[in-house]
Amino acid sequence: MKILVTGGTGYIGSHTVVELQNKGFEVLIVDNLSNSSAEIVDNIEKITGTRPVLEVFDLVDREKTADFFQRNNDIAGVIHFAAYKAVGESVEKPLMYYRNNLVSLMNILESMRDNNIQNLVFSSSCTVYGQPDELPVSEKAPIKKAESPYGNTKQISEEIIQDTIKASDIHGIALRYFNPIGAHESALIGELPLGVPNNLVPFITQTAIGIRDQLKVFGNDYPTPDGTPIRDYIHVVDLAKAHVIAVDRMIQDKMKKPFEVFNLGTGKGYSVLEVIKAFEKVSGLKLNYKIVGRREGDVIQVWADPSFSNRELGWKAEKGLEEMVASAWKWEQAYRKKLADKQ
Ligand code: UFG
Repeated sequence: MKILVTGGTGYIGSHTVVELQNKGFEVLIVDNLSNSSAEIVDNIEKITGTRPVLEVFDLVDREKTADFFQRNNDIAGVIHFAAYKAVGESVEKPLMYYRNNLVSLMNILESMRDNNIQNLVFSSSCTVYGQPDELPVSEKAPIKKAESPYGNTKQISEEIIQDTIKASDIHGIALRYFNPIGAHESALIGELPLGVPNNLVPFITQTAIGIRDQLKVFGNDYPTPDGTPIRDYIHVVDLAKAHVIAVDRMIQDKMKKPFEVFNLGTGKGYSVLEVIKAFEKVSGLKLNYKIVGRREGDVIQVWADPSFSNRELGWKAEKGLEEMVASAWKWEQAYRKKLADKQ
């Protein structure tokens, strides 16, 4: 069975390629390498013993996308990760975000329809819930107005997929991620933010290794037990495994309706300070951090009700917070050592 993974050299994409190959799927990657490198394919091969095919082009290019799908019309399913994902950047460059994230999706859907490829797994986000009125947040919670153009691209993408499904034979599963962190146990693949990281865990590990001076904790005056915001952190390998199950569910014709939505979270929330404490415990280091003002657009607290995913997909996030941050730390150290060895 051939699966197309768009954005397959990226953070979640690369971990998903590994899990797909572990289950015997043949993987084709399409990536424009705008936020990743082709070397990731070597590392995937080191982990699984199989080299996925990588085609480098931009899915925003309608002709190239159509040509790719015509040449590969035996694809059993598409897992679509390729997208821009930085919240702050999307506020500064909204058109770049809308064009990239929406046009690529439309090109993919058009080509799927034209080549009778029916199964699409879409990379969505818990950002569609905004600050939910009830916690934990289930898939039935209302969609709130997006806080950023990035978040809006996820909402609009889900709508584009639903409308296309109504008018074609395509089926879709949207997976709404909570906060993916951590890295593969081999430390051969992990999160590699370009420039200064926006997200908490890469900022922690880069501070600990000495690339950043100090972590800024954005606010400790929130109405939470320790005053810092709460998120549902999920190990990227647990997340990756859910994609394999989702695509398999589609191929096996086990969907209950043509468009399904699943939360991918652990169901447990941790504060920023709890994440820092877990990191200090597993690394044995004292992290240099300082409390500063709130970051605009941050929700106070959000964690998943994963019971529908647990039940319907037969999937459950297994790894706990300490294991997650330990794997992120192992990856950071291994990556920096490799860079130093190269010099
Ligand atoms: N934080 C800090 N300092 C930092 C970075 C983050 O204190 O340097 C805090 C944030 O204020 C927040 C928590 O750590 O309370 C988590 O922040 P992240 O940036 O790691 O994650 P977010 O929850 O803000 O964002 C994530 C994804 C987005 C997605 C969003 C939906 O990165 O793609 O969840 O809520 F849109």
